[in-house]
This record gives sequence, structure tokens and C-alpha cells, in this order.
Amino acid sequence: MDTVTGLLASIADVGRDPRRGGYSRPVFSTPELTLREWFKAEAQRRGLDVETDRNGILWAWWGQPERGALVTGSHLDSVPGGGAFDGPLGVASALAAVDLLRERGISRNRSLAITVFPEEEGSRFGVACLGSRLLTGEIDADKARNLRDADGTTFADAARANGLDPARLGRDDEALARIGDFVELHVEQGRGLGEDGPAVAVGGSVLGHGRWRISVSGQGNHAGTTAMDDRADPMVAAAQIIVAVQKAAAAVDGARATVGRISPVPGGTNVIASRVDVWLDARHPDDAAALALVETIHGKAQKIAAFEGCTVSLTPESWTGSVTFDAALGRSLELALPGAPVLATGAGHDAGFLAGHVPSGMLFVRNPTGISHSPEEHVEAEDAEAGAVALADALEALL
Ligand code: GLV
Ligand code: MN
Ligand code: MN
Ligand code: MN
Repeated sequence: MDTVTGLLASIADVGRDPRRGGYSRPVFSTPELTLREWFKAEAQRRGLDVETDRNGILWAWWGQPERGALVTGSHLDSVPGGGAFDGPLGVASALAAVDLLRERGISRNRSLAITVFPEEEGSRFGVACLGSRLLTGEIDADKARNLRDADGTTFADAARANGLDPARLGRDDEALARIGDFVELHVEQGRGLGEDGPAVAVGGSVLGHGRWRISVSGQGNHAGTTAMDDRADPMVAAAQIIVAVQKAAAAVDGARATVGRISPVPGGTNVIASRVDVWLDARHPDDAAALALVETIHGKAQKIAAFEGCTVSLTPESWTGSVTFDAALGRSLELALPGAPVLATGAGHDAGFLAGHVPSGMLFVRNPTGISHSPEEHVEAEDAEAGAVALADALEALL
């Protein structure tokens, strides 16, 4: 029987990023592939049968693969410089929960599978939850095949290089039908669980969220020979647009908007950029309010760009409407975990995509720093084990 802490300790050296701090484990990178192999070995050690489906999702079966199974799992990829828990906590807890259920000698009425989803963070190909979007058909397979990483590699080529058939990517009704109920355990990514209360919460809902690329175009030129009055500098426009994003979101109750990534072209110290790409992440519990906020930001960006002699274009990269998790499954989770609060989350999850197709729910484990997508994300050992017990309790009630 392994503890969650022990399982996480065994992968603690995989994908460390000394430059950024924390972990960088983008999909199909050496670290992420190492973690996938680690998962397969841990599953096999437990006598679970492992298969990879046509979208690159790993399934480890306790019992025969069958329709309507109980499924739990999360992801092993990370954001650049991410923490140790976002994703791996759910996978390690699922393995530990299987150990606990076996130790309890429970009898199963259906099979249980642990899943690992690829590219949950969208940190390589730009679209978060790509594995669950493909599985559910929530992304057009052609669009997915043509997504490119920063080096220009398409998702189709990356999939092929990792043993998948790009032609078979996309909605997989057979695999989806195997999920009778889906429960994802995840590190809490804010301060929703206080020091004195329970360590585990039940997920209630997910904010509507999306990503847009704002491209600001100007005149590339020489930093030394171009008079200040003669410039159409998209970097100057982009800087003001970033401030406008912050101000526009602050003016809308419940909204969140972030620019976490910008890319000047060509990107030289002595070069006035010809174009700057700014990626916007915007979220709100009300989908219409999130989309209205993006329109407001677009309008402000157009005015700013025009003032600087530049032009601007806004390209949607992904959108996910707000999700309320399945009410009946939520009640079962609450019954299995008396006293657990119900928490909404601002983070996106594969469970959120699955929720539109199969009964899905989540459990959140206390994060004392309240920080996530950062090396400071944390879970105390005691809480991690409490999380695995809570997951085992929930699964036992549902099996
Ligand atoms: C992924 O974790 C996201 O919420 O963007
Ligand atoms: Mn996650
Ligand atoms: Mn994340
Ligand atoms: Mn996420």
C-alpha cells in the first residue's frame, strides 16, 4: 500500500525546471512521457490493465473494460514552472484509493478505471483539456490536428510520434460510454479550504473561461534611427492593452482576466517590433459576462492601437462555458463525505468537459498557500492522505 506522499515523492525529480522553478512537464515531453510510464508501471504493479485510447488518454482497469464504469483520474502535464500537485495529486490519489479499497475488501458492482488525460493545461498546443475535448468531440478533430506548438510542430505530428494515429483522433463514443460516473480529485487552487476546517471539498461549478490571441501590428524598425514621433510601436500599444485588461476585469464583479504570455516579433533589444501577440485568459461565472468583457477589452484595444498608429486583431483560441457538476453525483459525494463544503473553482478541468456528456464531479484537497500554477502550490502530507481516503470513500459509495 502506497501513500499519496510516497507516490508523489517517487516522481519528485521528473521535469524540474531550474530556470523557472517548479516543474515543466508539457504533453509528450520527456518528463510527461516519463510520468506516463511511471503511471503504467504503478497501475500494472496493482494488477490493473492499462490501455491507451485513440486520443492518447491512459486507462487503467480494475475489472473488465465495460460500459458505465466508475472512472477517476486527472492529468500529468503541467504549466511552465508549475507546482507538484496540479494533476499528479489526482492520479496518485486514485492509485492510493485503489489500494485502500482493496485493503477494505470491498465488493464491486462495476469496474473502476483510472484515467490520465493528455494536454490538460494546454501549455504546449494552446488549448486546455485537449484530451477530454477530443474524447467528447468538443473540439473539431481537424482543428486539434492543426494546433501548433511554439516550434511549429502540429498536434497531429506529435500524436503520430507518440504512437497515435492522427486520423483516429476525435470523438470516441465507445470510450465515452465506458464512463458511468467520473470523479476527479484535484489540489484546491485558491483559499477555499481554511486551516481549521475539513481538508477536502466537493466541487460545485467551474467558471466559464476562454483564451484569445490579441495581435497588435505596427511598423518594425530600427531602435536608433527612428525618431520617437515616427513610430508605430506595437509593444507600446500592447503595454497599454495589458493595463486595460486588468482595469476592464476589475470593473466587472466576479470577472478574472489575465495576460500571462506575450510574444514580440521579431523580438530584439534594438528592434522596434513589427507585431506583438498578447494572450488573454478571461473568466466569469456567467458566460455572457465573460464574453461581454472580452468585447469590452477588444474595443479598448482597438482604440489604443489606433492611437499608437497600429492595428489589432482578436482571435478566439478556445472557449469553455461555465459548468455545474452533476447534482445527483454531487449529492452522493456529499453523503460519502459528511461535512465537506461545496466549492466553485475558477480553474478548468477535464471533469468540466466530461460534465457535458457523463455525470461528473470533483473533490478538492486543501492548499495552504492558496497558490497554484506556481512552485508555491502546496498540500500537506496529512491532507494528501485525507484526500485519498475521501476519494476511496466516495468511490466505495459509488461502486
Ligand atoms: C487550467 O488549469 C486552467 O484553469 O487554465
Ligand atoms: Mn489540473
Ligand atoms: Mn492547472
Ligand atoms: Mn486545470
